[in-house]
Amino acid sequence: MIPIDLTTSLLSDPGVFGPDRHAEIVAHYHRFGFVVIRDLFSVDLIDRMEAECVQAQEQVIARTLPDRYGSTVFLDEAAKAERFANYVEYVNELSPAVLAGATDPLLVEVITDLLGPDCWLNTASRAGIVYQDSRPGKESGYTRIGWHSDWQAAPNLDIWPATAFTFHIDGTSPANGFLRVVPGSHRWATPAPYRNINGATVPEGSAATGGYTDNAPPFQMPLGFEKIRGEIPIYTERGDIILHDAYLWHSAARATDDATTRRHVRGGYLNGDPDGDGKREVFVKNAAR
Ligand SMILES: [Fe+2]
Repeated sequence: MIPIDLTTSLLSDPGVFGPDRHAEIVAHYHRFGFVVIRDLFSVDLIDRMEAECVQAQEQVIARTLPDRYGSTVFLDEAAKAERFANYVEYVNELSPAVLAGATDPLLVEVITDLLGPDCWLNTASRAGIVYQDSRPGKESGYTRIGWHSDWQAAPNLDIWPATAFTFHIDGTSPANGFLRVVPGSHRWATPAPYRNINGATVPEGSAATGGYTDNAPPFQMPLGFEKIRGEIPIYTERGDIILHDAYLWHSAARATDDATTRRHVRGGYLNGDPDGDGKREVFVKNAAR
């Protein structure tokens, strides 16, 4: 009989590292296009982040904040924004805990290793840092998102490569939804979305492809939620940080339990021109239903 060591790989989540494992964090990200950092943020920081984000969300719903903070841009049905708010944009201006997390010295050290010394935290354009509540209940207008790479949202801008961070206020599971990724897809020369589900126009001046090599993907990116050979789920715990590359193929699976929430804070470190004037910027909304 072949002995199986149940204490190692079978009981550890793939791609998850403690903050003291800097070299492995960087190596895993380079190889697979994503990594999870666990136990960097204190319990107190996440508690404050949750309280400040929930308060901001309630203020958006009550319309006591300027329109700048509330958005319907990603919602399946804009009418739902009248009753609920899935997003708080520029939450970095409202939550000191979010800003503290996004500028955590160790996190910045890791991201600087990934992107180079000139990368910068996007706080003022493209919605800044966003609090997302992707709950599945019927009041919600955003519950899942189809396959895309973040680069595809702005292939005309000189801000790549980039790294997105996700701070998990709720851990994730099949019950409340989770991130799906195709490890290694950041290396593929992914086409700009000349064909996509909402027919958005690819802006002029866009690069034809985005990725770390000139190698074409082995198959086309699906338009929706289809299963991709080689994809894996990323399950997180409260306080976990996912870093994923802007060229990585990813999507988000909807929850199976309507009584759950899936709340997180999303932002990014970018390269290139930091003025963020947004004049040529077009969001290309991928399959969101
Ligand atoms: Fe994304």
